[in-house]
Amino acid sequence: MKLEKVVPWGRNISEYREMFLLSEDDMKKRIAGFGDGPASFNRQASAAGSDVTSFDPVYSFSAQELRERINEVRDIIIDQMRENSENYVWDRIKSVEELESIRMSAMEMFLEDFGQGKREGRYICHELPERLPYDDLSFDIGLSSHFLLMYDALGYDFHIAAISEMLRVCKEVRIFPLCDLDSNASELTERVIEYFSRDYKTEILKTDYLFQKGADKMLKIRR
Ligand SMILES: C[S@@+](CC[C@H](N)C(=O)[O-])C[C@H]1O[C@@H](n2cnc3c(N)ncnc32)[C@H](O)[C@@H]1O
Repeated sequence: MKLEKVVPWGRNISEYREMFLLSEDDMKKRIAGFGDGPASFNRQASAAGSDVTSFDPVYSFSAQELRERINEVRDIIIDQMRENSENYVWDRIKSVEELESIRMSAMEMFLEDFGQGKREGRYICHELPERLPYDDLSFDIGLSSHFLLMYDALGYDFHIAAISEMLRVCKEVRIFPLCDLDSNASELTERVIEYFSRDYKTEILKTDYLFQKGADKMLKIRR
């Protein structure tokens, strides 16, 4: 992975809990976050006593490299959001400025925690669908926020392999949202649900989180 291809952008624990309908009980379980990038979920949940391990290929970079890259891309992302502001619901987050402040504060929390979290084994450099260095069912819940099913260009085979590996190490997988980058429902999502419905229970749940228009549903896949 090349640093100049990385577009770091991270959400916080309130957003994760709403996107994935994570109850108090869920927060006591062993949680794995796939494609967590610079989200502050791991740091905030760990500080509150939860057991969270995050996986992402960007963890091969140093905090300093990631900080520099965040500073390079933040204005570009914010300008794009301003241009496409009609695609978002400005309800709880009231403005692009507020959004920038929420995202930057989440990523700062991550950056401050990254060194210690790596030493504690909470941030693991890993790229799906490679085999994870964990035994079967090592985690209770596996999460994917704004990664799987969003980038449909990664293709059907990638998604089946990635989610299969997540289901090997996690009793249950939750994916949010269920639309592509343009907020459209995709044929890929339908085909992936059809595939896993053969051997697992699949459920689509409406969540409490709505920011990108049309992106308020979560897929739960469990044994
Ligand atoms: C849009 S960001 C979402 C970050 C975080 N989940 C959140 O919602 O705030 C997508 C993340 O997926 C990661 N990613 C891309 N390809 C991946 C792969 N093959 N395996 C695991 N993570 C990947 C990226 O590095 C990036 O951090």
